[in-house]
Amino acid sequence: MYFGVGPKEHKKDLYGFDREYAELCEAVSSQNRLIIVRGLRRTGKTSLLNSVYANLPPSKIFIDAREISGKGSSEVYSHFITRLSAYMRSRNILHNIAGAISSVELGVKLSVQRQTPLLSAMLSEIDAQAGKEKKTFCIFIDEAQMLKQSGFDAFLAFAYDRFKNTKTVLAGSEIGLLDEFAGESSRSPLYGRVKKTITTRKFAREASLDFLRRGFAQAGKKPAEAQVEEAVDSLDGTAGWLSMYGFYALSESHASALAKTRREGTKIVKEEINAFMVQRRVAERQYLAILSALATEPLAWSKIRNYLEIRLGRGVSDSRLFAYLSALESYGFIEKDGGRYFISDPLIKEAVGGSGR
Ligand SMILES: Nc1ncnc2c1ncn2[C@@H]1O[C@H](COP(=O)(O)OP(=O)(O)OP(=O)(O)O)[C@@H](O)[C@H]1O
Ligand SMILES: [Mg+2]
Repeated sequence: MYFGVGPKEHKKDLYGFDREYAELCEAVSSQNRLIIVRGLRRTGKTSLLNSVYANLPPSKIFIDAREISGKGSSEVYSHFITRLSAYMRSRNILHNIAGAISSVELGVKLSVQRQTPLLSAMLSEIDAQAGKEKKTFCIFIDEAQMLKQSGFDAFLAFAYDRFKNTKTVLAGSEIGLLDEFAGESSRSPLYGRVKKTITTRKFAREASLDFLRRGFAQAGKKPAEAQVEEAVDSLDGTAGWLSMYGFYALSESHASALAKTRREGTKIVKEEINAFMVQRRVAERQYLAILSALATEPLAWSKIRNYLEIRLGRGVSDSRLFAYLSALESYGFIEKDGGRYFISDPLIKEAVGGSGR
């Protein structure tokens, strides 16, 4: 079924992802050792990962970085050690390091200085086993940008260089931070490694309409064309909003499903904006002013600067403005095309414009 409120697990439930699915399968089964799935929020990254992962042979693990309780090195390494030890037990590949692993399993806490060589030794055994079986070991990490603070990208760079039968697939909802984590910036440990990037995108208008029509048809329904059009006019092509609307519309009226999706979607976006602001209180007014300007119309750099100057009553330097816009772009709140910045998601516009700030 296309409609629902959580990430999809199987390809049959994914609309219009044949190319992305084939690309990720191909990347995983070819020489690529580092694969990045990037794209704006709610465009199907996790669903794509899940559905490809489900069809891979068992030499694999899937880690959602949100499941790691702390973000420090020790918690992150400890989580990977625990997950890999469970994997090794299930596959009977403990060989040389069984003793060290058993003590960790019994609750012995290791310092980061001892965690790194252990994790490396574990991966070495796993990689060698994969080599013997002429297979690859796949590590899928969703929300990978959350591992940046722990320095785990340095470990992944080491693994990339050292283990030729191991590949890593990274995805994350904060597009710019993921790019940085995955080595787009020369300061990143993963910089310079060859990588394959797959991008998920919003549906174009015709595909959005088709997605809704087919989703309803799967449930044996055929809504009025005007309703399908109104839903797309109002929500645009973000798969997450469309599948949420479809899900509600299966059990309630079109008008109530659309209103509910807009209400809940706006609430989700407001929470994301608040989480973004928590780290940036000193510049909160500037960020909100930029967002509310862009909620009205796409604007070029100079127009945004003029707007900010009028709104805040003082000038803003180019470097500051660049930093504000880059941060908003990194978190997927705004996009840039042809020299103009814009907000393409109507629910982000609503969250900003209608928030009364
Ligand atoms: N191609 C698709 N076909 C059907 N449903 C989809 C598709 N892509 C995404 N969805 C639905 O949209 C919602 C968001 O998808 P998903 O969580 O996979 O996106 P994401 O890009 O990982 O989001 P985030 O940026 O929040 O991590 C889910 O309910 C999912 O089922
Ligand atoms: Mg996701």
